[in-house]
Amino acid sequence: MANNSAVITESFKVEKEEKVNKKLRWAIVGCGGISQTHMGAIKKIPQIEVVGCCDIKPDRLKVMKDQWGIEAGYEKWDDLLREIKPDVIDVCTPNGVHCPAVVAAVEAGCHAITEKPMAMNPAECQQMIDAAKANDRKLAVGFQYRYHPVCEMFTRAKAAGDIGDIMFVKCQALRRRGIPNWGVFGQKELQGGGPMIDIGVHIIESAHYCIGEPRPIAASGNIWTYIGDKPSEVESMWPGWDWKTFTVEDLAIGQVRFDNGCIMQIESSFSAHIDHDIWNFTIMGTKGGFNFDTATLFTDHAGTMINAKAGYLPSAGGDSLFVAKLKNFANGILEGTPLRAPGEAGLAVQKIIDGVYRSAAAGKEVAID
Ligand SMILES: NC(=O)c1ccc[n+]([C@@H]2O[C@H](COP(=O)([O-])OP(=O)(O)OC[C@H]3O[C@@H](n4cnc5c(N)ncnc54)[C@H](O)[C@@H]3O)[C@@H](O)[C@H]2O)c1
Repeated sequence: MANNSAVITESFKVEKEEKVNKKLRWAIVGCGGISQTHMGAIKKIPQIEVVGCCDIKPDRLKVMKDQWGIEAGYEKWDDLLREIKPDVIDVCTPNGVHCPAVVAAVEAGCHAITEKPMAMNPAECQQMIDAAKANDRKLAVGFQYRYHPVCEMFTRAKAAGDIGDIMFVKCQALRRRGIPNWGVFGQKELQGGGPMIDIGVHIIESAHYCIGEPRPIAASGNIWTYIGDKPSEVESMWPGWDWKTFTVEDLAIGQVRFDNGCIMQIESSFSAHIDHDIWNFTIMGTKGGFNFDTATLFTDHAGTMINAKAGYLPSAGGDSLFVAKLKNFANGILEGTPLRAPGEAGLAVQKIIDGVYRSAAAGKEVAID
């Protein structure tokens, strides 16, 4: 179980001029969309200095040079690791490349953080964890939603006894029509799946963290593809996706049982006939309940059922959650402070997702090891 009380004060720290004794020599592998958010966040983290990057596409290396002044760009990570010898590799490639890049990095003596999801499946996650352990390197997953001020609000309420025993959590990452029309998000062999592994993972990781990271033991669910594999015929925010290569689901629905009896329900879509997009988890406990959107605690108080909304929470806007997650990893390396999303957390989340996909393929409930 996560020791949430150990971390809940982190957001109260006032950001002052920080004295930094040592800077980590950091390198980015995969210089596409999300790496740019990492670069912006890193500019606010004095413990990190980016010394190199890698992408199979030379035009992305040029972006890193022109926009961020990163001169040392490589098309192969082996060359980057050998010539630059960074302290940390920050993996921002498509999902199917997370495992080989992390394993190569830790074997070369680097600490590694990888974007979400941790990998394609639990076997790859385990391989990454084993390689990091064998080489005595730190490994983290770039789950940023567990740093969200609303998750910290929930964590404090739980620690204060407002929630009681948690029985049920519903995770919803639902788009009415939001199939990415860039990248390889529709290709199962490169991504491992569709909305559940791509956007559902954000809600699943943060909810799983909030409920104390119980061990998943069984899953039941189904997936459906009915829009993404056809040309877009209605107005939508990202029309013209590559429907010919679309091999992932439009909608995933699942239920996961944990070893403490708690049930997680998962609803995730790129396309669903619903009123509006939903990004939420709902928690039901014996003493209180909680909604991520809109940061509301449900409880009984002095003879009345109360819906208590936060009067103030820090902003989660801009790149603040990325600053939080990258800084947590940097501090973990430099100061030995606890990692909020170590490889083991990534593996547990991957087992949840994989369990629902396996159940969908089997047409029945499946056990999770
Ligand atoms: N945390 C978040 O909120 C968030 C948001 C978006 C994406 N992501 C994750 O980030 C990852 C990348 O997503 P993106 O949107 O930046 O995709 P992208 O397609 O924009 O960028 C990926 C980059 O990786 C490069 N690449 C592919 N194979 C490579 C290899 N073998 N070696 C080096 N580079 C390689 C590509 O050329 C591309 O430039 C995915 O895992 C995605 O799930 C996370």
